[in-house]
Amino acid sequence: MADGNPTETLQELAAGIRACEACQLCAGRLQAVPGEGNPRASIMFVGEGPGAVEDEQGRPFVGRSGQLLTEMLAEAGIPRSDVFITNVVKCRPPGNRDPLPEEIQACRRWLDRQIEAINPSLIVTLGRISMSRWFPGGRITRIQGQVRNIDGGRRAMPLLHPAAVLRNWGLRSEYAGMFARLARLANEPRPDPASAEDDLSQGTLFDL
Ligand code: URA
Repeated sequence: MADGNPTETLQELAAGIRACEACQLCAGRLQAVPGEGNPRASIMFVGEGPGAVEDEQGRPFVGRSGQLLTEMLAEAGIPRSDVFITNVVKCRPPGNRDPLPEEIQACRRWLDRQIEAINPSLIVTLGRISMSRWFPGGRITRIQGQVRNIDGGRRAMPLLHPAAVLRNWGLRSEYAGMFARLARLANEPRPDPASAEDDLSQGTLFDL
């Protein structure tokens, strides 16, 4: 594994992901979708799993949800090429079902290594599935936009999945506001890596 050069490390990880057969999702994929973006991004988006268009193109968030994500980023003044975008599972679940716990677990090592290589200061989860890693037991509709310090001197912020906004267009302006908030947050100094992770049971989620 390349050491210290995130571009090379991500290329090596992408090759590993494309060849991965660690769970049953590899059987139904056209191709794996490792993720894309700036290897030194300060903001990393983590969605659920590729859909049909992503499976065809091998790129994350390029279908209708992706178009909305790209639009939200543009409105917040964030070029899509500045961030890194990936998913909890890198292969399309059949029929777009939720990824199973064992599939998420099998794929976790790839996501962990991507986070380590990119070292983002902010991880933005898109939807319930990726939220549950950093906000276990959280209700997305209640905690959207709140922030917690996580390991590695970074923060995590849960957002609705863009598909939820496409289903309920009334949520769009609030959603756009969330992107404006995350753009501000990404410019703030990182939390002290030596400070412990927030303990959710102590109610340490905070609003910006
Ligand atoms: N939905 C996701 O969660 N990820 C994608 O890449 C596309 C749609």
